[in-house]
Amino acid sequence: MSQGFTLWFTGLSGAGKTTLTNALVPQLRARGVRVEVLDGDEVRTNLSKGLGFSKEDRDTNIRRIGYVSRLLARNGVGVIAAAISPYREIRDEVRGAVEADGATFVEVFVKASLDTLVARDVKGLYKKALAGEIKQFTGVSDPYEEPLNPELVVESDSETVEESAAKILARLEELNLIAAARQAEKAGAAL
Ligand code: ADX
Repeated sequence: MSQGFTLWFTGLSGAGKTTLTNALVPQLRARGVRVEVLDGDEVRTNLSKGLGFSKEDRDTNIRRIGYVSRLLARNGVGVIAAAISPYREIRDEVRGAVEADGATFVEVFVKASLDTLVARDVKGLYKKALAGEIKQFTGVSDPYEEPLNPELVVESDSETVEESAAKILARLEELNLIAAARQAEKAGAAL
């Protein structure tokens, strides 16, 4: 069984966490990784239904995502967690829990400038947040604490999704968490 890990994406809403996740899932599966995804928006419709965006509720949300990540990662699953996770302390707490069980925690900061996010505004939320219609909106009227020592930073301002995904795969290879691309092709051919 391959070694489990948690690939933890942190970054502002709209920075590209979900898009990157969607790009990575098939590529990881092609490398023989059993993948599960815990996406903030999705978790909030089931596991964290009813939680809001106060610090306390966000911390609860992240601890829940962290807890499930831990259970999966220690059983050899490659977990992708994609939530804003704005508070450093809670991210570090999750890291500690995952690592305590012998799995690897890989924190990836999905970085984009606020200007870019406001210009993109895929969900129309920044416009509302800037108009004061959504309170406590991360990056606008609520804090976001950038990681100090992430395993990797990807910049959706300047990189394509493919470039960022390739950087992440290369980092996972370096950490011996996945097979190198050439082996993956062979595995794919053998399927
Ligand atoms: S977290 O802070 O608890 O990690 P999570 O990633 O689960 O957040 O959810 C963020 C998503 O909720 C955003 O992408 C956005 O669609 C939506 N959202 C609604 N209200 C807020 C808010 N006040 N701050 C940030 N995101 C919000």
